[in-house]
Amino acid sequence: MQYGSFDPAKREYVIDRPDTPAPWANYLGSPAYGAIISNNAGGYSFVKSGAAGRIIRYRFNEQDRPGRYVYLRDDESGDYWSASWQPVGKPLDQYKSICRHGTGYTHLEAEYKEVRSEVCYYVPHGADYEVWRVKIINNGKKARKISCFGFVEFTCESFYEQDQVNLQYTQFITRTYFKDQFILQTINENCLNAVNESRVDTRFFAVAGASVASYCGDKAKFLGNYRDYGNPVSVENGKLDGTLNYNLNPCGALHTAFNLEGGKSAEFVFLLGQKKEAVARELVTRYKDASIVEREIDELKKYWHAKLDNLKVSTPDDNFNNMINTWNSYQCFITFAWSRAASLIYCGQRNGYGYRDTVQDIQGIIHLDPDAALDKIKFMISGQVSHGGALPLVKYSHNPGHEDKPEDQSYRSGTGHPTYRADDALWLFPTVWKYVAETGNVALLDEVIPYADSGEDTLFNHLKKAIDFSLNHLGIHGLPAGLHADWNDCLRLGASGVSVFVAMQLYYAFEIMIRFAKHRKDAATEAQMTQLKTRFGKIIEERCWDMDRFVRGITESDVVVGKPGDPEASVWLNPQSWSVISGFADEARGKAVLDLVHKELNTKYGARLMAPPYRRHAFDGALALLFNPGTKENGAIFLQTQGWLVLAEALLGRGGRALEYYLESCPSAQNGIAETRLLEPYVYSQFTESIDSPFEGRSHVHWLTGTASTVMVGCVEGILGLRPDIDGLRLSPAVPASWKSFTMEKVFRGCKLNIKVDNPEGHESGCKKLTVNGTAAEGNYIPASMLKAENEVVLEM
Ligand code: GLC
Repeated sequence: MQYGSFDPAKREYVIDRPDTPAPWANYLGSPAYGAIISNNAGGYSFVKSGAAGRIIRYRFNEQDRPGRYVYLRDDESGDYWSASWQPVGKPLDQYKSICRHGTGYTHLEAEYKEVRSEVCYYVPHGADYEVWRVKIINNGKKARKISCFGFVEFTCESFYEQDQVNLQYTQFITRTYFKDQFILQTINENCLNAVNESRVDTRFFAVAGASVASYCGDKAKFLGNYRDYGNPVSVENGKLDGTLNYNLNPCGALHTAFNLEGGKSAEFVFLLGQKKEAVARELVTRYKDASIVEREIDELKKYWHAKLDNLKVSTPDDNFNNMINTWNSYQCFITFAWSRAASLIYCGQRNGYGYRDTVQDIQGIIHLDPDAALDKIKFMISGQVSHGGALPLVKYSHNPGHEDKPEDQSYRSGTGHPTYRADDALWLFPTVWKYVAETGNVALLDEVIPYADSGEDTLFNHLKKAIDFSLNHLGIHGLPAGLHADWNDCLRLGASGVSVFVAMQLYYAFEIMIRFAKHRKDAATEAQMTQLKTRFGKIIEERCWDMDRFVRGITESDVVVGKPGDPEASVWLNPQSWSVISGFADEARGKAVLDLVHKELNTKYGARLMAPPYRRHAFDGALALLFNPGTKENGAIFLQTQGWLVLAEALLGRGGRALEYYLESCPSAQNGIAETRLLEPYVYSQFTESIDSPFEGRSHVHWLTGTASTVMVGCVEGILGLRPDIDGLRLSPAVPASWKSFTMEKVFRGCKLNIKVDNPEGHESGCKKLTVNGTAAEGNYIPASMLKAENEVVLEM
């Protein structure tokens, strides 16, 4: 079943059936003010942090309620509905609606009994409040009397958890006031400063450009007892009763009424934010003139589209184009901004950046916004502890040079992270490499950046310290210990058990250090890293290979995990794909292990993380056993790993396989099976249930997932073959034989490249000829020095 489609020209996803199988969401705003909104206007907003800055309530895991509701009422008949299909939920044969999720805005159009409404929700660029632009149009001939009610359910206080669970306190610290055009909510209003954990805050919900006919600041009065958002008594009555809350639950509800002649319309805005009364007043004045809204929405589009324009592709596959040009890219920016904090699944409690998550997220946007990537790289480097390990969670309040760390009880209790993970700091290598290669900014390596706890060092030395950390944490057979986890949160291999995934990461890290050292003419480091690479290569060969596959790890009691013949978990995806990515496996071995993956792990929705899932034969540290078979780390199609598989196949030049894997798990390619997939067909989720589940194909944990960046890298570096290095750009597309030609527009170090790839003979990879502005280039490499402001590049495969 299909509920919508892509509008690539506008970079929108257009939902034309509102009864989607799950709330299909969008993100508005910036790290200063975040807002999540579903196609039915469900969702919530927060200032800076979903955990500590929550403004709107949302009931997770329920019916997508409440949200930013606009109710409409025919004052002659008393009939009422909402500008989003839910919460009132009129019959769909009478109520027509379209939701356009765009870059930084969501636009809802509806028509019911000849009244059309258009509500556009957005956070102005750089602002920390939100705007709901409302337009009501009488599409009939006869005059109509229409009431409109804006409603928002405030949290009692900004700390999400307190608001939810500490009712004996939070219900009694807040009240609302009516101030001409807005409801003002105060929290701890008698205090001048924060007291204990609580903070003094004021929020407002306003209408601008229309006058207030009635108001209400008390949720219970707005809804009425034993009623719901779908049938609020005050909307039914056509009037808000003027009750302001003093204790219990606050809300902002404002009513405005119009007589609309046939064909006429009314336009005004609702505004919401955490602002003092005087600022709220100023905003109401500013938004009286509705023309500001069009300008702001335009500005948002320009801002986002300019970023996304840094790579535009036109390939024979529209699913690929939809994702790479807009939605996968946009999702990468969202994970980059909000990590794993706030979605309709994550309730915001993770109050910081997971180290591995964010360092990987950066990779998804380097080619689109290298400056933003640079800031975040420096920030994450400052989350590395002076002994080289990385803080598992870098708090939003991170104060480099002064942070506590997993050795400290305060860090453990404050973050819930008991100790170091084996992989965290090793993600820095590919991320820093990709940034330096994209920009040529090698000077970054000499930049001095503080450590999280104390001291400072050049970025290059930070990287060396990351290697030291791994070398200081070796387990049996001299391989890197698995510690509390490697990439896989469900593998506790401990201080002496070892992780093959980390061994491959480390091997790759040596390679990247060799490239940097060569460029710096640092012969000592080059020799040291080369020697380490050889040493570890030998151990990997001896200990991590079994018959036809790379194993997954070795436990503290020397039991090999993931070997042929094991009754469960005998094949694991990551060590095979990473053997290629890390450069450890040569071409023949790489192809062989990926063939094994195709045979043993692939399904119609992608390759499983491992198989068979754990049921009876898990070792003590195999926490995946906790999950139902075919779910999450217990043998689901863990979508993040599909990106690595796509990349690995592409690195081997097998473009057909790369695209096959890509399409199996591509959201856009699942647009027609929404009832199976459930989640948004325009964003990646964390995992898809695999063949061991009775619900094969169902996907979970939308938006905030490492899938966005790994698939992006798999496509950009892998399938499209855009592989920059310090001195230029290598073009190595790996595409299916059926792609006879495609084009890419890429901005590279300030130069524009119009790239045309011709593949008349239907190859999957390779380069017969490359010309840059008519001049033949050597091999498939474009030295940066060859580039002008605008360049015509033609590659024949
Ligand atoms: C989740 C976590 C990520 C982890 C992965 C595998 O996606 O956010 O940090 O690497 O699971 O366990």
